[in-house]
Amino acid sequence: MAGSVAPALELQDIRCTFRAREGGESYTAVDRSTLRVEAGEFVSVVGPTGCGKSTLLNVAAGLLVPSAGTVRVFGQPLQGINARAGYMFQAEALLPWRTAEQNVMLGLQYRGLPEAEQRAQAQRWLARVGLAGFGDRYPHQLSGGMRKRTALAQTLVRDPDIILMDEPFSALDVQTRQLMENEVLELWAGDGRRPAPTPERASSEGRHAGAGGAGRKAVLFITHDLDEAIAMSDRVVVLSAGPATRPIGEFVIDLPRPRDVAEVRNQPRFVELHAQVWAVLRDEVIKGYAQQLQRGVA
Ligand SMILES: Nc1ncnc2c1ncn2[C@@H]1O[C@H](COP(=O)(O)OP(=O)(O)OP(=O)(O)O)[C@@H](O)[C@H]1O
Ligand SMILES: [Mg+2]
Repeated sequence: MAGSVAPALELQDIRCTFRAREGGESYTAVDRSTLRVEAGEFVSVVGPTGCGKSTLLNVAAGLLVPSAGTVRVFGQPLQGINARAGYMFQAEALLPWRTAEQNVMLGLQYRGLPEAEQRAQAQRWLARVGLAGFGDRYPHQLSGGMRKRTALAQTLVRDPDIILMDEPFSALDVQTRQLMENEVLELWAGDGRRPAPTPERASSEGRHAGAGGAGRKAVLFITHDLDEAIAMSDRVVVLSAGPATRPIGEFVIDLPRPRDVAEVRNQPRFVELHAQVWAVLRDEVIKGYAQQLQRGVA
């Protein structure tokens, strides 16, 4: 690998077969799937409902061991949980009995930092996601958007080199969602301008500046919203309908940055890209829907 930087994430020929309970047929959700995210790259994966998007993300996170294929993280084979990645789930992941600040601190606890340092970092991140002054609220005292912001802070406080997001904003109303999308883009782009870690931070966290160690994070973003995917990404990957889902199309999104996710949709190039991707995605969405109905009655 001399002279080249390994991709942040490399899924090679992945197959995921789920065993059925008592005598039923097993189901191969994903097959021959190869997917790469370069260091600092923002990649979205779109595909019909039930096709295997979360399955692939779980493989990337190390939460699910594939039936076949390999996963590499910055060139190293993945074993166990992907420690270089932060994961933001579709579902609410905050602990209801902990305040926003305590929830964000959870992201740091395993590092063994002193509690005061954990608290300081949590406060810094709550402020960065627009929640300064809300740290003592419990999740039920926050709006849906604020809870998502807290979850974002919880993910980013660990300073992961890779961010895995599984439809993180799909439960939000359109306006809040666009605000959050823009904020994620700003935070992500801001990291590209961030100076290298201070010596104090580098030593306290035992980090070394390797590929992706400083600068923009690699993002793997799962969504079934094509507009969201195009507005945010450097590259959009389209998955086929299941079973045996695999990538069937890949589109480089050459829209200039910085982008405003609401405004970028009006650009002619956006409309053109949307038509190109949709031409591939449309048939899969129809197939995926038909298959779900069939499996439902089988
Ligand atoms: N643990 C499991 N056991 C059996 N089948 C599973 C399991 N996990 C996922 N599946 C099946 O694999 C397929 C892919 O599921 P997955 O959750 O990855 O889809 P998805 O693309 O994320 O869907 P959605 O868009 O609805 O979130 C589905 O048909 C699902 O029923
Ligand atoms: Mg899913």
